[in-house]
Amino acid sequence: MSIPVNLPSDTGVYDVVVVGSCMIDLVSFTPRLPKAGETIHGHKFLIGFGGKGANQCIQAARLGAKSAMVSKVGKDSFGDNYIQNFKSNGVSTDYVGQTDEASTGVAPITVNDEVKTIFNPAPAVADLDPEFYKETDLFCCNETEAEILTGIEVSNTEDAAKAGSVLLEKGCRSVIITLGAEGSVLMSLDKRAPRYIPTRKVKAVDTTGAGDSFVGALAFYMAYYPCMELEEMSRRACDIASVSVQAQGTQSSYPHRAQLPQELF
Ligand SMILES: Nc1ncnc2c1ncn2[C@@H]1O[C@H](COP(=O)(O)OP(=O)(O)OP(=O)(O)O)[C@@H](O)[C@H]1O
Ligand SMILES: *[C@@H]1O[C@H](CO)[C@@H](O)[C@H](O)[C@H]1NC(C)=O
Repeated sequence: MSIPVNLPSDTGVYDVVVVGSCMIDLVSFTPRLPKAGETIHGHKFLIGFGGKGANQCIQAARLGAKSAMVSKVGKDSFGDNYIQNFKSNGVSTDYVGQTDEASTGVAPITVNDEVKTIFNPAPAVADLDPEFYKETDLFCCNETEAEILTGIEVSNTEDAAKAGSVLLEKGCRSVIITLGAEGSVLMSLDKRAPRYIPTRKVKAVDTTGAGDSFVGALAFYMAYYPCMELEEMSRRACDIASVSVQAQGTQSSYPHRAQLPQELF
């Protein structure tokens, strides 16, 4: 069955017409992502209405727009439910077709519990709420911030290790203190000995935003290489931040993936 295309000639009938997909989200919550072919236990499951086009249409309708969706779903229970969902949200389904030649689109989504958080206490305040130390997976700060938070003046790797121990005592699980041209120091509860991560010797032109480049790179590795050792992530983030200091500006100095060595990925 095809989607009727005879939109009323009076186009003022709808304020918002969305042409797009309707998807049923099948969301599994698991302690981690399964490897290919592996079966793991999840602890929660939910079915939701999704699909970019439909989401936009529902949001517009909920804000009061007279809305219609142009889409096609399967002649199956997901499709029936979806049409009902549009109706409950006041979206016209006059142009939502149902076909028995294909099933309604589904989006199996796995949400792992390992969505990590990085806390960057910038600008630092001495009376930082203690929850921030305990609730984040990785606490990442520079020399100045480490000093404000711990009272220990940080100008070299030994100082950073002392400040790092104080931050671990405050409840941090992992701490990275960046030291500019000296790289960074990593410490964690399970491996308390400070690990010194040097950065590349480069000709620095403008170090503005190097810290943000470092944190952004770390976030990238945490999200896309969850099994990588934090030490390796820090090493690569240092490499990337050291590229950013070799050009003027903040974001303008941040490298793109294609400009970086393949080994970093
Ligand atoms: N002169 C430099 N040479 C090489 N790498 C550098 C240099 N300065 C900074 N970096 C890299 O950037 C990382 C973060 O730098 P830094 O500790 O200066 O952060 P920051 O003080 O928060 O920076 P900013 O406040 O300027 O954004 C360092 O760990 C290092 O990898
Ligand atoms: C550390 O970051 C703060 C912002 O929180 C900044 O004001 C300060 O200059 C930075 N310190 C160093 C040594 O770059």
